[in-house]
Amino acid sequence: MSPLLRPQPRSGVLDIKAYVPGKSSAPGVAKVFKLSSNETPLGPSPKAVEAYRAVATHLEDYPDGAATELREAIGRAFGLDPDRIVCGAGSDDLLNLLARAYLQDGDEAVHTTHGFLVYPIATLGAGAKPVVAAEKHYTADVDAMIAAMTPKTKIVFLANPNNPTGTYNPFDEVKRLHRALPPHVLLVLDAAYAEYVRRNDYEAGIELVATSENVVMCRTFSKIHGLAALRLGWMYGPAHVVDAVNRIRGPFNVNAPAIAAGIAAIQDTAHQDYSREHNTRWLAWLTEEIGKLGLKVTPSVANFVLIHFPEEPGRTAKEADAFLTSRGIIMRQVAAYHLPNALRCSVGTEEANRLVIEALGEFLAGAR
Ligand SMILES: Cc1ncc(COP(=O)(O)O)c(C=O)c1O
Repeated sequence: MSPLLRPQPRSGVLDIKAYVPGKSSAPGVAKVFKLSSNETPLGPSPKAVEAYRAVATHLEDYPDGAATELREAIGRAFGLDPDRIVCGAGSDDLLNLLARAYLQDGDEAVHTTHGFLVYPIATLGAGAKPVVAAEKHYTADVDAMIAAMTPKTKIVFLANPNNPTGTYNPFDEVKRLHRALPPHVLLVLDAAYAEYVRRNDYEAGIELVATSENVVMCRTFSKIHGLAALRLGWMYGPAHVVDAVNRIRGPFNVNAPAIAAGIAAIQDTAHQDYSREHNTRWLAWLTEEIGKLGLKVTPSVANFVLIHFPEEPGRTAKEADAFLTSRGIIMRQVAAYHLPNALRCSVGTEEANRLVIEALGEFLAGAR
């Protein structure tokens, strides 16, 4: 039957390469260390788990569609007006809502070569065209992003820090990018890994949102807060953007257990500090130890490292991935991010991190 005789998705939808999440199993291996999705190895705050469980007695009730208590808790934690916060089913939800609200057929949205894959998916899903700006040293290049803009550009997506590279742009650079944008172009600052960054010249973007009409910051509970399974994210934006997103979001896009766990998690700063300290220590250790093995690591400020493998038979990323998987270590292949010979490895528990170094050493020794 001719395809024209059946329902047709809007233009762009069939150009989307569906997002492939990190692998989570290693067949035949007793103990598996999943380091493929940048989840925290320390889990969520026990208080968040307790709050989640308490909701189980009221599953018949709809959640508060406005997530008011959660927005108030986030507002208190960051000193923000809760009316300028929108919560979503993960920050993915918010990125898609922003694309739907601000892009239409024929528009363009800029993202960077190794930028987070949800940006082109959200852009194409909204009928618009993703435009790729080249990176420099695996880092978003503000000049290239500015050069990639055309009169059709409506959104510029910047992951800061970026996944899967782990690199970041100093706040001065973000402000320079913003200054170059016409006022009708929305700058989306995706700060999913902000809590892990320990750099004096980094800012997630709160100040820029507070002082502009065209900047939004997205955050997630999936990383340092350890609530990826619940799907919870939030954005802070100008009142008019918040209004637009609120009009199109699902009326109950955030579920009740996520709201309860999110409130407890954002208040448990001790657990956040503990998770950040673990990450700071083991990120540095992994970077150094992988370097000592002779592999290149892109300097990361997030909770993962990007490891580059030699272009030699027996030593490639694909072969390393197969070897590591046989040892129960699951990393993320990043060919879809135009990094065919690299693997992304999340910072794990001490046991997992030590095993990574041991197994990589064995892999490279075997390859000789
Ligand atoms: C840069 C970036 N943004 C957003 C997300 C989405 O997070 P979530 O939808 O779980 O909140 C991720 C998750 O990997 C990410 O790496």
